Amino acid sequence: MKICMVGSGYVGLVSGACFSELGNSVICVDINKKKIENLKRGIMPIYEPGLEELIFRNHKQKRLKFSSNLSESVQNSDIIFICVGTPTNKKTYESNLKYVFKVVNDIKKNLNKYKVIVNKSTVPVTTGDKIEKILISKNNNNKFDVVSNPEFLREGEAIRDFLYPDRVVIGTSSKKANNILKNLYLPLIKKTNRYFHTSRRAAELIKYAANAFLATKITYINEISNLCEKLQIDVAEISLGIGSDERIGSRFLRAGPGYGGSCFPKDTRALLSIAKKYKTELSIVKSTVKSNDSRNKYLLNRIKNILNNKFKGKKITFLGVTFKAGTDDMRDASSLVLIPNLIKKGSNINYYEPTGIKSELNKKNVKYFNNIKDACKNSDLLIIHTEWNEFKQLNFNKLNQKKKFKIFDLRNLYSPIKFKKKNIEYFGIGR
Ligand code: UDX
Repeated sequence: MKICMVGSGYVGLVSGACFSELGNSVICVDINKKKIENLKRGIMPIYEPGLEELIFRNHKQKRLKFSSNLSESVQNSDIIFICVGTPTNKKTYESNLKYVFKVVNDIKKNLNKYKVIVNKSTVPVTTGDKIEKILISKNNNNKFDVVSNPEFLREGEAIRDFLYPDRVVIGTSSKKANNILKNLYLPLIKKTNRYFHTSRRAAELIKYAANAFLATKITYINEISNLCEKLQIDVAEISLGIGSDERIGSRFLRAGPGYGGSCFPKDTRALLSIAKKYKTELSIVKSTVKSNDSRNKYLLNRIKNILNNKFKGKKITFLGVTFKAGTDDMRDASSLVLIPNLIKKGSNINYYEPTGIKSELNKKNVKYFNNIKDACKNSDLLIIHTEWNEFKQLNFNKLNQKKKFKIFDLRNLYSPIKFKKKNIEYFGIGR
């Protein structure tokens, strides 16, 4: 099929590359000409394991093209995926749909034949209705259908999540559009009955309900971990004990620094904004947002206790600073709150980050190192911030010459027992 992805970011680029991998002819469009030029030269705009190779292979086979000419790309395509950003206002929690509606108006000018307009961007429920209203005009009302097809791609695992989906959700009342999309996704769902045809509004709400539930699950185990710390219980045992119940499920029960990233913080707030607009109380989601927002304060208090409230002149090393492993994304990463606070209290920060130096941390008393050893040298406190594999088998005695140093393991990569005999004080989450 001939597909146009409008927006070549985390969602549009990965989805477009995967659709081309399935044999479709795909044009990834972006308003950012530099990004498109770079993509034509094989330079990636995002860090996503496996993406460079996937793009190289399909671009070489001419199944995957890049363009900044939206009109031409839309005219030459049968299925148009809208994958542009929908930033959430941090105060009102409302999603900003200006980029979506701008694209829709551009598409409207290029409906030269029947097209399926598929919204993959995370949008408030009823946005599909609004898109339909914009597109309808006297001479084109049978030339399109508007569909909601939410994405469930985790950064760092996006290609895997796309090619091996737990489910594909297609929201539309049009049999024609549904058949076209079912055909498009057939290679991914033929072995599993994981294709769900819902109403358009249901598909829009499924995205928010899924992310808010996952955010709640993480927040739940994080709060349980706070109780575990008081009772000398290892929260990892609780995660195992409850996660083995199929009704609960073992995934997303790893206690940590709280959720960050481009989705959970945004989508939970957007869902609350939708609920408020329709005068419905979502008290659980509200408390999830409140609890997660206070997680960094809890972590700073833990660090205060670990350092016996002596921050001045202390050297603190962060291993990893992104919101999670497998990505270069700093959005809502705990480090963006922890590091400025520790600097303010008089500490000096070293950090090593597998995806390289971060402009967000270009501050006084913050030093980037391109290797773990130098970053940890003579450090008073080592904070393991993300769960990269290269942090899982560290030889701490070699890493640090300080006679007594401490580790705050925000991802529980290590067992406390390992440090019993060593001159290292280990602190975990929920332990
Ligand atoms: C999420 C959803 O998983 C995905 O379906 C949606 O399309 C986009 O948002 P993403 O934000 O990329 O994906 O990462 P994810 O792996 O879900 O982690 C989200 C946050 O939760 C991260 O900060 C991560 O560190 C944290 N997390 C995740 C935990 O603290 N514990 C866990 O067990 C899992």
